[in-house]
Amino acid sequence: PRSSSDRSDEGLGWRTRMRYVLTEQGEVALRGHRSHEVVPAADCRIAHPLVRAAVADRVFPVRDAGETEVEVEVAASMSSGTAVVTRLPGPSASSGSGSGSEVETEIVEVVRDRRFRLGPGVFWQVHPGAPEVLVDAVLVGLAPRAGETALDLYAGAGLFAAALAEAVGPSGTVVAMESDPPAVASAARSLADLPQVSLRGVRVSPGSLRGLAATGADVAVLDPPRAGAGRAVMQALLALGPRAVAYVSCDPASLARDLAVAVAQGYSLVTLRAFDLFPMTAHVECVAILTNTPGGERGTHAPA
Ligand SMILES: C[S@@+](CC[C@H](N)C(=O)[O-])C[C@H]1O[C@@H](n2cnc3c(N)ncnc32)[C@H](O)[C@@H]1O
Repeated sequence: PRSSSDRSDEGLGWRTRMRYVLTEQGEVALRGHRSHEVVPAADCRIAHPLVRAAVADRVFPVRDAGETEVEVEVAASMSSGTAVVTRLPGPSASSGSGSGSEVETEIVEVVRDRRFRLGPGVFWQVHPGAPEVLVDAVLVGLAPRAGETALDLYAGAGLFAAALAEAVGPSGTVVAMESDPPAVASAARSLADLPQVSLRGVRVSPGSLRGLAATGADVAVLDPPRAGAGRAVMQALLALGPRAVAYVSCDPASLARDLAVAVAQGYSLVTLRAFDLFPMTAHVECVAILTNTPGGERGTHAPA
């Protein structure tokens, strides 16, 4: 039999997080392309086998026949081999493990020997290979050094903050900013042993970035939602003078707009890598590395 990673290599069975709507009969479904049509999809072929197993032949209670907006989120954990099913929205959501009868509300993901403890609905990269690949790309691009100050903006559960904290060591500092309270709580649980991480439950904004003016930043990673960071945030970030910035993006258009702001502010685009982390779809994940060194060379503190 083939392993799940074999299937991932073929571009199928990779999606570890699925958000379904329910049909009037209570089956999991997806919406048709650019339509409101509800299409039963328990066998969606890009969904990870653990996710498919958790919803196969399962009928969820639907409160009344006209209620078509009920959503179910299924998140599979690669490290534990379980899937957590959460009915959205609201605290009355029922939750259970797809691998047995035991109720489990936290998902554990392991990256570089660190256990990330994720509450329901907290953002996590959907492709099983994504966390390692993206952390590697960010570390190679930023080359953080012991004692430096690093920023992780739009930090989620702290995937990049953890890697940066290991790299800058106990004499360094990592400031992580994230606005979603459950994600901040997950990061706090997962990074509790790293005192060099300062976790801020705030929106990334020109104001919150100006608050870092006293410490500045040597390096920064930002991983915003599809809309990008926007001009004002880019300008406020670069005003802190980081020698290198890693921009992780799931939307090439907003990435291009934000990179144009950086270039206008004297930064150089030194590498732009694209990763096929959404196989069988038109989506692509990019990691852009910017430096404030005129020749694009990394590792100096030369002014822009
Ligand atoms: C694409 S995810 C990246 C998370 C993390 N870097 C990772 O790879 O797991 C974007 C994150 O930004 C958060 N977010 C969205 N808008 C924000 C804002 N204005 N300020 C801070 N965080 C924000 C979301 O809650 C989400 O966790």
